[in-house]
Amino acid sequence: MELPPVALEGSVRSMLRSFWGVDVADKRLVGDLLLGRRQHTGTVLYVTSGSGGVGKSTSSRRLCERAAAMGVSSLLVDANPLQSSQRNFFGGRSLLDVRTISDWTPGDERAQHGANQGRRFGVAYDLTFAPETGQSVPWSRYADFIMAARRLWQFVVVDLDRISPVDLDDTGTAAGALVTPSVVSGDLVLVPVKLGMQTQRDAMNLLAAFPRHGLPNECVGVKEVLPIGMEEHAPYDYAPYGTYLGAERQSVEAERRIEQCASNWADMNLDPVRERVLAWALPDRGFDPARYMPKERRKGLWGRKRK
Ligand SMILES: Nc1ncnc2c1ncn2[C@@H]1O[C@H](COP(=O)(O)OP(=O)(O)O)[C@@H](O)[C@H]1O
Ligand SMILES: [Mg+2]
Repeated sequence: MELPPVALEGSVRSMLRSFWGVDVADKRLVGDLLLGRRQHTGTVLYVTSGSGGVGKSTSSRRLCERAAAMGVSSLLVDANPLQSSQRNFFGGRSLLDVRTISDWTPGDERAQHGANQGRRFGVAYDLTFAPETGQSVPWSRYADFIMAARRLWQFVVVDLDRISPVDLDDTGTAAGALVTPSVVSGDLVLVPVKLGMQTQRDAMNLLAAFPRHGLPNECVGVKEVLPIGMEEHAPYDYAPYGTYLGAERQSVEAERRIEQCASNWADMNLDPVRERVLAWALPDRGFDPARYMPKERRKGLWGRKRK
C-alpha cells in the first residue's frame, strides 16, 4: 500500500506514532531494511559528554552489567585511548595479553578477535580494551570494528571521552568519525549532564550542536547527574535535543565503591535511571523502569489501580 505524503515527510518516529500509536527509539529494523542488512544487528550506544568526570565509564559498565543480567549479550568497547578507563578499572598495567582493538584487523568479520570474554574478569559482558600506551588506532578502525561487533553482540556500549561541538564534523575525531554518522543513521548516544555551572554549560553547548548536525532527538538520551549534596530540581527542557531519561544522584558511598574498583552494586541513586536508559535503548527486552520507582509512588499507582 502506498504511503500517504504526510507519512513520507515526517520522521520514522512520527509515522509510527500516528499509524500505530507507539513511541519507539529503536530504528534498527528500519535501518536494516533501508541498508539491506540481512542479519539483524545489535544496538549501539555511545556514551559521551561535554566534560570529563561525569560518570561515563562507570555508567557504561553498569549498563552492560544490567543488560547482560537480562540476557542481552553485551560488549563494552573502551574507546577512550587517552585514559583507558576500562583497562585501568580491570587491572591497569598488569593486564598482559588482553585483546585490544588493535588485535582486530579491518575486514575481519570475526570481531571476537578484538574482544575478551568477560568471564576472565568476573563479569557477564565482553570487553574490548583500548590499545596499549604508545599504540594508536584511527577512529575509522573503531567504526569498522563496531560494525562487525554488532553482528555478534546484541548490545554494544562504546565508552568515549568527552567530545566538543566543533569536532562533530571532523572525521579525525571520535565525534566526527563515530558519533555524528552513527547517530544520524539511527544509533544511540547517551549524554550525562552533570549539574553545575561549567559542566552544564559544556553539556548544553554539545546538545545544542546536535540538531545542526542532523542528530535526531529520539536517538539522543539525556540523563542528569546530581553531584553529591545537590538538591533535586525541576528538569530542564531537553526535548529539542534529546530524550530525557531521569536524574541520577552521586553519593559518597558510590564514590568509595568506584575507588575500590567495585561494580554491580544495587544503588537506588543510579539504578532507576539506568533502567530507563535500557528500556529506551533496548525496547521489548523486559526492562521495567516502574519497578525501580520509589516506594511511595509505586504504592500510589497500585492504590489507584485497585479502586
Ligand atoms: N555515582 C557516583 N557517585 C559518586 N562519584 C561518582 C559516581 N560516578 C562517578 N563518580 C566519580 O567520578 C569519577 C569519574 O568517573 P568516570 O565514570 O570515570 O567518569 P568519566 O568516564 O565521565 O570521566 C569516579 O572516579 C568517581 O570519583
Ligand atoms: Mg571515562
